[in-house]
Amino acid sequence: MKKLQFSELMNLLLVLVIIILIYQIPNKATNNAPEKKQVVKAPSSKKKLTQLADTTFQLASPSYESSVSVETTMLHRRSQRDYTLDAISNQQLSQVLWAAYGITEIMDEPAFLRGGLKTAPSAGARYPLDIYVLVGNVDGLKKGLYKFIPQGHRLKPVLNKDLREALCDVAFEQPMIQEAPAVLLYTAVFERCTSKYGERGRERYVCMDLGHSAENVYLQVQSLGLGTCAIGAFDDEGVKKVIQLSEEEEPLYIMPIGYYTESE
Ligand SMILES: Cc1cc2nc3c(=O)[nH]c(=O)nc-3n(C[C@H](O)[C@H](O)[C@H](O)COP(=O)(O)O)c2cc1C
Repeated sequence: MKKLQFSELMNLLLVLVIIILIYQIPNKATNNAPEKKQVVKAPSSKKKLTQLADTTFQLASPSYESSVSVETTMLHRRSQRDYTLDAISNQQLSQVLWAAYGITEIMDEPAFLRGGLKTAPSAGARYPLDIYVLVGNVDGLKKGLYKFIPQGHRLKPVLNKDLREALCDVAFEQPMIQEAPAVLLYTAVFERCTSKYGERGRERYVCMDLGHSAENVYLQVQSLGLGTCAIGAFDDEGVKKVIQLSEEEEPLYIMPIGYYTESE
């Protein structure tokens, strides 16, 4: 009778050990798994952006995950020209700017990298582009003109004025420019590229770089449920005047960003 109790006890202990082991293994695996990256829930972010000591604004960290496949995004990408009045969140803007020209590999040298390798390829990694943002209706950001600074993923305030209407006027009054809550303006400093590649840089590489970055914007806005349209038709001198660009900066693309209603 006593022997039987002992073997039962042993069996019970064995079962307990097995149960503990079964629960331990997956827990250990989960503990060792790399930290899951945060997925952006853009529309809920109304928090004001933090202004840093150098007066730039710190943009929200971008997300590196999405529930939409790149194939689905390409399938549905269209140029959108009719935007609703809804604001976009600063997190959405942050995500779009990261897709356009965000740093994906930090490198302090050489200086022409301006912070490191980016989301879009660039001939000789010369990165001739700059991106300005005309903010009209972005949660947590005052209306005005800002410049995207890839280093540290920041926005630098440039002019404290809503310039969308003025930009629309010098872009043959394409209404989407003044209606969209945010408008990207791509500029290029050609010399960054021509200093290495000469005329080939001017005639080919700078605009090839632009195409890569702008397509990233198209795909990123599509996956966020937003729309854009690449606009190349505008009066160059007019744009330079409105945005107060320096002599060396050439405007290349205007890209409105916002929620849209299907136009065609
Ligand atoms: C270099 C370039 C310049 C463009 N300029 C304008 C423009 O000034 N205004 C506009 O409404 N669309 C412009 N577009 C958008 C094209 O009209 C659009 O891509 C084309 O109709 C194909 O439509 P999809 O983008 O929906 O596929 C431009 C596109 C490119 C590539």
